[in-house]
Amino acid sequence: MMKIQVPFFRADLNAQEVEEVVATLRSGWLTSGPKVRRFEQEFAAAVGASYAVAVNSCTAALHLAVEALGLKPGQAVLVPTMTFATTAEVVRYMGAIPILVDCDPLTTNMELEDAVRKLAQLKSGQLQDTLPEDLKVVGIIPVHVGGMMMNIEAVQSFSTTQGLWVIEDAAHAFPAAWRRTPEEPWQRCGERTAAVSCFSFYANKTITTGEGGMAVTHDAELAERMRLMSLHGLSHDAWERYSGGGSWDYKIIAPGYKYNLTDIAASLGIHQLARAEEMRQEREGIARRYLEALGGVEEIELPLEDVDRIHSWHLFPIKLRLERLAINRNVFIEELKQAGVGCSVHWRPLHLHPYYRETFGWRPEDFPVATAMWERLVSLPIFPGMRDNEIEHVIRTVKGLCAHHAR
Ligand SMILES: Cc1ncc(COP(=O)(O)O)c(C=O)c1O
Repeated sequence: MMKIQVPFFRADLNAQEVEEVVATLRSGWLTSGPKVRRFEQEFAAAVGASYAVAVNSCTAALHLAVEALGLKPGQAVLVPTMTFATTAEVVRYMGAIPILVDCDPLTTNMELEDAVRKLAQLKSGQLQDTLPEDLKVVGIIPVHVGGMMMNIEAVQSFSTTQGLWVIEDAAHAFPAAWRRTPEEPWQRCGERTAAVSCFSFYANKTITTGEGGMAVTHDAELAERMRLMSLHGLSHDAWERYSGGGSWDYKIIAPGYKYNLTDIAASLGIHQLARAEEMRQEREGIARRYLEALGGVEEIELPLEDVDRIHSWHLFPIKLRLERLAINRNVFIEELKQAGVGCSVHWRPLHLHPYYRETFGWRPEDFPVATAMWERLVSLPIFPGMRDNEIEHVIRTVKGLCAHHAR
């Protein structure tokens, strides 16, 4: 029998998407043009936002968002330690300082109680002695880890009390929504859930353009500033060059960046967007099968389901109960790999990376939950187009490893 190899992720592109890319190539319009504009309009409508600015990554979107909100050196932003490099690095791009925050042990999302604690420590001079004394905290960048949204009401009430702006790192959270109770309506991620919400269309995300991202907002001025800065800070008329109607002349209003998305990428995005909910449901179906089949396995903890969340299921992270296993997480991953199951870890928390440790002096004990949790994390494969025998193989392998190495 052939050995099954289940990749951590396999892109799901259909014939229509491929044909749209080919049509774009044949049209001769390779950079930002009509397909980008259409993608922006359709994405804004899909999340219920007034404005959308398409860019070449979620990192670019987050950078434009902090710039548009006026982040400066001498200021600081609350950032979860449990996130990808991007969330904190965009704060550093502006010369500002990320104040890292521990995570919730169940959802892995940012723990607002720890944010309160970190702010109090900062005020009383008990945080890091490497931080400047007059640091002013101006914003917060929550991440919806794996596509399970935070409680938006709690984030908004915290940020209002503390006088902070909110930018969402929604790299994983499309399509996703939350509601306060089952009696109340859903609020989609991007539908006034933050000043700016930033999405990723990187290859393995819930919809993809290869590389790509989107910043959405309800604020016309923020949208205008992000659009301006996404293309060298060129005046509006320069943008019209991209739709074929502009003149050769342009004016530089600000020293911007080169973050625009191409029509080639948007060709994929338009069609991926149209089947986003169908793909989400497929992911949810796989998640349910994992939850059912692995529910009784005592050596692992499974991700939460919540009736008040529409979960994008970008990730399916399990947590090993190390006290019940005779092997550690790294050996567990190695054995999964040998059995043909690709997996990943989301993430080594930022405070355990050399740059953040050495620059700001963060210690493992400053983030007890994330420090302990990261050694237990394993993300299993979950993607649309995953075959039945692949899902079964993952379940069988995880169960087999747990039984074999149980203490
Ligand atoms: C939480 C989070 N934020 C931001 C990003 C960056 O996305 P992009 O690669 O589109 O810049 C990622 C990428 O994986 C991510 O996981």
